[in-house]
Amino acid sequence: MILISGATGQLGQEVVKHLLSQGAKGRFAVLARDANKAKPYSDQGIEVRIADFDAPDTLPAAFAGIETFLFISTMSQDRGPQQIKVVDAARAAGVKHVVYTGLAIHDIKTSGVRDLMSSHFETEDHIRASGMAWTFLRNTMYAEAIAQIAGPNALTDGIFLPGGDGRVPYALRAEMGEATANLLLQGGHAGKTYNITANQSWSYGDVAAALSRQTGRSLGYQNIPEDALREGMKAAGLPDFLIWLTLGTVQDIRNGQYEIESRDLQTLLGRAPKSVDEIVKTVFALPG
Ligand SMILES: NC(=O)c1ccc[n+]([C@@H]2O[C@H](COP(=O)([O-])OP(=O)(O)OC[C@H]3O[C@@H](n4cnc5c(N)ncnc54)[C@H](OP(=O)(O)O)[C@@H]3O)[C@@H](O)[C@H]2O)c1
Repeated sequence: MILISGATGQLGQEVVKHLLSQGAKGRFAVLARDANKAKPYSDQGIEVRIADFDAPDTLPAAFAGIETFLFISTMSQDRGPQQIKVVDAARAAGVKHVVYTGLAIHDIKTSGVRDLMSSHFETEDHIRASGMAWTFLRNTMYAEAIAQIAGPNALTDGIFLPGGDGRVPYALRAEMGEATANLLLQGGHAGKTYNITANQSWSYGDVAAALSRQTGRSLGYQNIPEDALREGMKAAGLPDFLIWLTLGTVQDIRNGQYEIESRDLQTLLGRAPKSVDEIVKTVFALPG
């Protein structure tokens, strides 16, 4: 039996969708902390195990009889110690294999979001030391982040961000979820680390060019000072954590931290991942 955490979230929903489309109903259960959110699953006859990573007492029952655990990372600001306790609970319950979704980044030590993202690597280290089999899926930046960070004005005014010429091998959550479902159903992959990335990476200039092609408008990219982004986000009343995360992420883009191009996503999908033109159509919900 496979257990999928984060199944009420965006990536987890894609994993479940593709497990179901491959006829795997009955071979997996989902972990959810909110029965209402998981109702679409229980309504379909999918086994739902109610548990919360922050409530260790709930974890032994969630892991009972589980062979493979797809551990989708959380966004908790206390993620390091939280996830280590989850790994310990999985091991204590007899889980054999943990598939963990981390981050594809060059050097976490010099990352602008190190304080949050280093927990991915601490979790990996703890899983490796646990004695359970492991597979690490180091996910690149979700393509959906392009629209979130550039904002809807990108469609009319172009992109204004301090991203320099840094490139990112963006991938859609839908394709990452599909690749993850394929891996889970194939089994094996123990002791492997995969970079779940597109085959090539794109700068904000490339994204703006794709937006221009897809909208028929002339949309450019302007590299602005980091302070301008910070002040704009503050003026919009955005929370400090989001400002820190966005600035640190764009700093990492500028510094080439995401420029890791791999064929692992293509291999797991069995086809080439989406191009930048297909990506912008999806993430900006463009017609056609
Ligand atoms: N590669 C990237 O660009 C990128 C970007 C953002 C995030 N991420 C990472 O990838 C993960 C998945 O992305 P996503 O977009 O699917 O995120 P998401 O939509 O926020 O989903 C997060 C999932 O984790 C569950 N969760 C959170 N805290 C939990 C807890 N204490 N116990 C049990 N479950 C808990 C959530 O449950 P509820 O539904 O109950 O909230 C939800 O199902 C994120 O959590 C984050 O670690 C990656």
